[in-house]
Amino acid sequence: MAGSGLIGSLGRRIERVCGKLPRRVFVLTSAPVWGLWGEAFQASFAEAPIVLFLEPGEKHKTLASVEGLLREMARAGGDRGSLLIAFGGGIVGDVGGFVASIFMRGIPYIQVPTTFLAQVDSSVGGKTGVNLPEGKNLVGSFHHPLAVFADIGVLETLPDRELRAGLMESVKAGIIRDRALVRFMEDHAEEVLGRDPKSLEKVIAASIRMKAEVVNRDERESGLRMILNFGHTVGHALEQATGYKTLLHGEAVGWGMVATLYVARERGTISKGQFERLEKLIHLYGPLPALKLKASTVVAATGGDKKNVGGVRRFVLPLGIGDAGVVEDVTAAELEAAVGYVLGQAGKKQV
Ligand SMILES: NC(=O)c1ccc[n+]([C@@H]2O[C@H](COP(=O)([O-])OP(=O)(O)OC[C@H]3O[C@@H](n4cnc5c(N)ncnc54)[C@H](O)[C@@H]3O)[C@@H](O)[C@H]2O)c1
Ligand SMILES: [Zn+2]
Repeated sequence: MAGSGLIGSLGRRIERVCGKLPRRVFVLTSAPVWGLWGEAFQASFAEAPIVLFLEPGEKHKTLASVEGLLREMARAGGDRGSLLIAFGGGIVGDVGGFVASIFMRGIPYIQVPTTFLAQVDSSVGGKTGVNLPEGKNLVGSFHHPLAVFADIGVLETLPDRELRAGLMESVKAGIIRDRALVRFMEDHAEEVLGRDPKSLEKVIAASIRMKAEVVNRDERESGLRMILNFGHTVGHALEQATGYKTLLHGEAVGWGMVATLYVARERGTISKGQFERLEKLIHLYGPLPALKLKASTVVAATGGDKKNVGGVRRFVLPLGIGDAGVVEDVTAAELEAAVGYVLGQAGKKQV
């Protein structure tokens, strides 16, 4: 459910979903989010939930954090009937979902995503997990939340850069499956970036609808779900090549989409005009940070993407606007040209 002001009535809404609130309700959050919205969150609960904190940042999305949280829950008397609410960005959502999937062999959980990215992407689809030193999201489970409450009101305090980065996932949603969303985002960039609630709600609802529909048809990612990876093969490589420090995920995906559109243009699955239109749309929701890298380093990093099966480099290419397909024969030379194009653009930028 997406709307404004949901936080104020969360307790009642959750009670409606669960029938009756269990004896132990845990809320997993981070100190910054709790500092901003904790009071509003708690106000609607007759009995205050037990608050668990996760340190902010990707480096705390680990098995060590998970163990700490599981032990806290056990000490606080959590049982198989307990409920966990994940209240925060995508990191809190992924860790919270994973904790819920293994505590006492699995307890129910509810997502209350507070970043744009978490509202349109990570809270939908049931993927949970943590990182290993060997790579991102390498441990996890599929565990669907009982409900997702996306309150547009909490985005008020989200830094602009986080909002813009999250919007890249909506741009992605439009390019691969929703022409009308592409058009809306082209025509209403000012309202969306100005956080006009109606415009935000429209983009969020369309993005969620797209992801939910794709996931419902292919929960375990054997086919169709792959298209959600558009822009991510190069995006993940850019994140890896920059040590996960300079780019937010959505920013990496923004550059990754430009590279992929370049491959599509060269192959003729999109026209030159479509390429220009979509590249312009991506930059409308920028600025994307400058990059100082070698194309060959980025291309080498695409080989490690976990979506590649048996060493085949899978690639999602747009077919016009609003449709996409998966190919397995993109060559290193094609990729190097596309990444070279992006690095040329990204080198010129002054951010
Ligand atoms: N499970 C999935 O399907 C899926 C999909 C995409 C991404 N992810 C994961 O999501 C994570 C990234 O999520 P994210 O972009 O939300 O990052 P995040 O969770 O780190 O949140 C970004 C920052 O925003 C702050 N914040 C959160 N809500 C706020 C608010 N309302 N006001 C002010 N500040 C706020 C947080 O404290 C944090 O500093 C990654 O770990 C990624 O792997 C998962
Ligand atoms: Zn993504």
